[in-house]
Amino acid sequence: MIRFGQIGVGGEGTIYTPIIAENPACRLAAVCDINKEVLDRVAGERKANAYTDFREMIEKEDLDAVAIILPHYLYPEAVGLAAKKNLHILQEKPFARNLPDAKKIVKALKGYKGIYMLSAQRKYSPAFQKAKEIIKSGSIGKVQLIEAYAQYRFTRTSESFGWRTKKKLSGGLAIIDFGWHMLDTIYWIKGMPSRVYANTCGIKALEGKNDIDETANIILEYADGSSAVVLTSITSIGRCWEFTFQCTKGTIKFSPCLVETYDKEKLIEKLDITKTEPEMFAAQFNVFLNAVQTGKKPLTGPAYGLNLSRIAEAAYRSASSGKPVLL
Ligand SMILES: NC(=O)c1ccc[n+]([C@@H]2O[C@H](COP(=O)([O-])OP(=O)(O)OC[C@H]3O[C@@H](n4cnc5c(N)ncnc54)[C@H](O)[C@@H]3O)[C@@H](O)[C@H]2O)c1
Repeated sequence: MIRFGQIGVGGEGTIYTPIIAENPACRLAAVCDINKEVLDRVAGERKANAYTDFREMIEKEDLDAVAIILPHYLYPEAVGLAAKKNLHILQEKPFARNLPDAKKIVKALKGYKGIYMLSAQRKYSPAFQKAKEIIKSGSIGKVQLIEAYAQYRFTRTSESFGWRTKKKLSGGLAIIDFGWHMLDTIYWIKGMPSRVYANTCGIKALEGKNDIDETANIILEYADGSSAVVLTSITSIGRCWEFTFQCTKGTIKFSPCLVETYDKEKLIEKLDITKTEPEMFAAQFNVFLNAVQTGKKPLTGPAYGLNLSRIAEAAYRSASSGKPVLL
């Protein structure tokens, strides 16, 4: 039985709680959140010990593993403390709010004896897995141009969005939070770009003051001459988690529920694979459990997280300098 602690049980954490607590191989022994109301409800429902301080939870509890789902600025400290105890760690994206934090996490995990896995669920959707398999098989040729869209309109105030709208706490939004999912998927399939260009437009939708990027256009260029165009925004109604990979012999379009493959002219295969977000998280959790049980390191370890932080950092640097950034 793997004894789990969950740090952060609000927001995205609500998806993790049932997945951990209801897994027969796990016991949700402790939960932590600074929101007492949420904490007491979850702890009561799940018969777990409750903590408002993760430092105390990690110190006092006899845990095997932690799931960490927190505001971005807290990741280096929480991961660092869990690593010191060699607990297995499942950490929510985006790894870190910026490159210095990413390097702190990598340093904390050096020589560490547990399993560390960076979480981002969509790669575990059967649609994304299928799309990657088709692209990697070479059946539609070599990747030439990638288009990716993550566009929503958020009609909220900056204040109600809390820590997310403070760059110091989140690192930003369009690139490091929302658009991070797009960079993740593209990196997962295509690897490291050689050059990054981005702009963050200055367009705003959230009412009230904030210092984060709400819109970003990112271009990734690869050493083989191919490139990716990523539009990420909370200022416009649009398309979400949609990718098109134009290849030399055909094209593939995919989203978390749909994969369409085209030859040079027409649709040749359409797969409707409807999966909910919790189902994708559950599939991802099984990968983590398998890694813990077998000792086989997951793909999305610290090196994976660091590379994504390098891409995001390059995008922010390019947006502020107006110049492309070499990686
Ligand atoms: N994979 C996805 O699709 C997805 C979606 C949303 C958020 N996320 C990620 O999940 C993480 C959390 O985001 P969220 O939307 O859940 O944020 P949130 O603000 O809704 O929830 C964060 C929780 O952490 C708690 N918290 C804050 N400070 C704490 C502290 N010092 N100790 C313990 N608990 C503390 C808050 O009270 C809150 O319950 C972020 O990394 C975010 O990028 C991922």
